[in-house]
Amino acid sequence: MANDWDLVIKGGQVFTPAGLVEADVAVKDGRIADIGAFAEGQAGEVFDATGLTVLPGVIDTQVHFREPGLDAKENLESGTRAAVLGGVTAVFEMPNTNPATIDEAALNDKLARAKGRAWSDHAFFIGAAAENAERLGALERLPGCCGVKIFMGSSTGSLLVPDDETLRTVLRHGTRRAAVHSEDEPRLRERFELVRDGASVDQHPVWRDEESALRSTRRLLKAAREAGRRVHVLHITTADEMPILAANKDIATVEVTPQHLTLAAPDCYERLGTLAQMNPPIRAEHHRDGLWEGLRRGIVDVVGSDHAPHTREEKAGDYPRTPAGMPGVQTLLPLLLDHMNAGRLTLARLVDLTSAGAQRIYNIAGKGRIAVGYDADFTLVDLKARREITGDWLASKCGWSPFEGMTVTGWPMATIVRGSIVMRDGELPGEPAGKPVRFLETMPQTEAG
Ligand code: DOR
Repeated sequence: MANDWDLVIKGGQVFTPAGLVEADVAVKDGRIADIGAFAEGQAGEVFDATGLTVLPGVIDTQVHFREPGLDAKENLESGTRAAVLGGVTAVFEMPNTNPATIDEAALNDKLARAKGRAWSDHAFFIGAAAENAERLGALERLPGCCGVKIFMGSSTGSLLVPDDETLRTVLRHGTRRAAVHSEDEPRLRERFELVRDGASVDQHPVWRDEESALRSTRRLLKAAREAGRRVHVLHITTADEMPILAANKDIATVEVTPQHLTLAAPDCYERLGTLAQMNPPIRAEHHRDGLWEGLRRGIVDVVGSDHAPHTREEKAGDYPRTPAGMPGVQTLLPLLLDHMNAGRLTLARLVDLTSAGAQRIYNIAGKGRIAVGYDADFTLVDLKARREITGDWLASKCGWSPFEGMTVTGWPMATIVRGSIVMRDGELPGEPAGKPVRFLETMPQTEAG
């Protein structure tokens, strides 16, 4: 007789919309079929989750996987392998590849490359540029697209929307929430003088100062309100932006990264040198405190890793010509679990920031909570396991992490994507079978994959 379920996750503490409950979760055809108490014989496969906590699959809404064009740093296989090793079940990938993802052909190329090679589910951003601004409304609705990404300040790659006129044109074309890197390009250019002829990397937050972030975020919110467009402001780094964002929560959602919550200047530059260089920069401790305050007060909606790998060789150059960015997709969850164990956030807040928050911001279809009918995406964690972040655990092609050598409390023990166990105890037992994420705003569409 056929089994009722394909898989039952038995005996874990399950984080449902009602909170943490002791329950079994039954999976059929990649979806959650039931939550309750089930006999072993009902399932084709039983996952013994005794002692583990079953969380909704972690969604990382900001990664740079470098394919096509910059594959020496990362590719879709290695980046998504790092993701599932870190307990991440879905990623949203950024458009500053080479070529940049600014049209339908480039988006479809990424989807084709991911097929059969991506370990996690995935979606891709379309980059905003002057040349595609008027087509963005159509482009952002393509299957497999999570929305439009706007770089207001230049970073890795050439994508840039530096002026208010182009910004307004971009925001007027489209309706989905637009994700924005908010640093003021004119001010960055003006202040580049400070470091142009060589400087110590601890000058990075002096060049790209608080005012650069603040000015840009003010310009963005004004333009977004005028255009009637919702925005998602990525990797906030200053305490000063938090009250401004709080006053605009009707149109703006907010991301912070684990790096900005964990590291602080000047210590990070002394210890890590240019490995700690990223945009917007890691700043002084009072800004880090301000981010935690924003997180505690609910202003922050999501934590994204901004996984931005560069090789050690590139990072070994002379500042400021060294590239900005650090890897993070694999360490996002271990770091947050460690912060949770240190009492900085609750498990409920962690879940909201890593799954439900992503769902709300981007209108993801069928993900972001453990509920019947949803995709069977789970991150199984041991909340009390103490582990060291070691080089041999890291899968990113860049081969390093700013958190190497750190011992954390809380660890991802298994990653399940649409009912398939893709990671268990640090091993990947199956094949890469990630699929494009579906979105409510791009319905109707056929089943992707
Ligand atoms: O530090 C960064 N690196 N910030 C960005 O916005 C881009 C990223 C990258 O792609 O390297």
